[in-house]
Amino acid sequence: MLAAREHWGSRFGFIMATAGSAIGLGNIWRFPYMAGENGGSAFILIYLAVVVTFGISLVMAEMVLGRVTQRNPVGAFRALGGRGWALAGGLGVLTGFVILSFYVVVAGWTLAYIVFMAGNQLPTADPAVLGRHFSGFVGRTFSPLFAATIFMGLTAWIVAGGVGKGIERASKVLMPLLFVLLLVLVARSVTLPGADPGLAFLLTPDFSRVTIDTIISATAQAFFSLSIGMGVMITYGSYLPRNVNIPRSTLIIVLLDVGVAVLAALMVLPAVFAVGLDPSAGPGLTFITLPAVFASMPFGNLFGTLFFALLAIAALTSAVSILEPMIAWAVDEHGIGRGAATLAASLVCLLLAIPASLSFGPLSDTTLAGKTFFDWMDFLANNVMLPLGGLLVASFVGWRWAKPACTHLTNDGTLRLPWLTAWIWLLRVGAPVAIVALVWQAVSTP
Ligand code: TRP
Repeated sequence: MLAAREHWGSRFGFIMATAGSAIGLGNIWRFPYMAGENGGSAFILIYLAVVVTFGISLVMAEMVLGRVTQRNPVGAFRALGGRGWALAGGLGVLTGFVILSFYVVVAGWTLAYIVFMAGNQLPTADPAVLGRHFSGFVGRTFSPLFAATIFMGLTAWIVAGGVGKGIERASKVLMPLLFVLLLVLVARSVTLPGADPGLAFLLTPDFSRVTIDTIISATAQAFFSLSIGMGVMITYGSYLPRNVNIPRSTLIIVLLDVGVAVLAALMVLPAVFAVGLDPSAGPGLTFITLPAVFASMPFGNLFGTLFFALLAIAALTSAVSILEPMIAWAVDEHGIGRGAATLAASLVCLLLAIPASLSFGPLSDTTLAGKTFFDWMDFLANNVMLPLGGLLVASFVGWRWAKPACTHLTNDGTLRLPWLTAWIWLLRVGAPVAIVALVWQAVSTP
């Protein structure tokens, strides 16, 4: 017999935890620079279209799998599809190790930047100097790893506390704090003198910059941002009591995720335009361009510190959700204690984080096909493993388990959902086509 499974204490707690998973570095670090590189609001509109079709469909599919089986990804697939399908869950657990190992590296940088900002160590508005500071810091051997270790420790501490006393409790405090910080920073950014061109860039779609690559990047961004494809939503869904309205909760979570991404773009891009910097600076936008923006505004250190705190909080609740499926798997399937499982999984991730972090310094020349260790982890996870995981969920629910899925999604017929058939066909055909296009593009462009 299994011990009784722990459940979320409240719907609010569940929504904060799940929104906490979705809202992460993907929204605040990646989304603004992707929008900046890809024609502003044209990219945002395409991203929104993907989110409301495939994104929502896949989140609901994962959640219903978890709630019905009350199991981790491996156990959920095994219970419904047998041993072959359990491998799909296994892929998810494996993907979690890969993602977390590089996620903690970038998250560690955000912790370091809180310290740099608060300690007034970046008092220049010259992007060239800030660029050298950034590459100098991430290229060091020990300090970035030390920061990643602290971040991993915080993540493990929350997860070891359990579903209710750890994850839910932390999310109920951290997420509202995140929303407040975000609103303060957006208000600051859009009222800067010279912010208008940035707002215009965000509000007038430039479809001439849209190519097939833009569409595919928007798709990848939507999947990553909604935490689809490695069983996070299966695991979080497995802590749901049976009577929750999954479609309604999904809608709230997705709206929060999209809202934060768009607000993050509204926070970053007008400020970048206001000081005359380049919005298409790529991944360095957050760590190089933004400190320049802060240096040129009154109380910049304060706003800069708040900004990196916001980023660290967003990353923390996401990292928690990447760790949890592995722990649920170890606990459910192997009877390992929660604390021991958390410690072991965290140590494995930290070990893998070493080469990921050193990819920016001592190992920057150790490449395979032009990619460093970090690049490979990022590429494999985002462009191969996560899409494949999403494909397996979509095919399983769409083709093998469609009838029960509809029964469970409607809570045995008590919810009226006029779009059920559309949902199933999006899972059967729409999502797989989008995913295959995404993987194809990723592996065929060098
Ligand atoms: N969605 C998070 C972000 O935007 C990252 C994340 C958390 C994630 N859990 C995930 C991505 C699971 C893929 C799969 O940063």
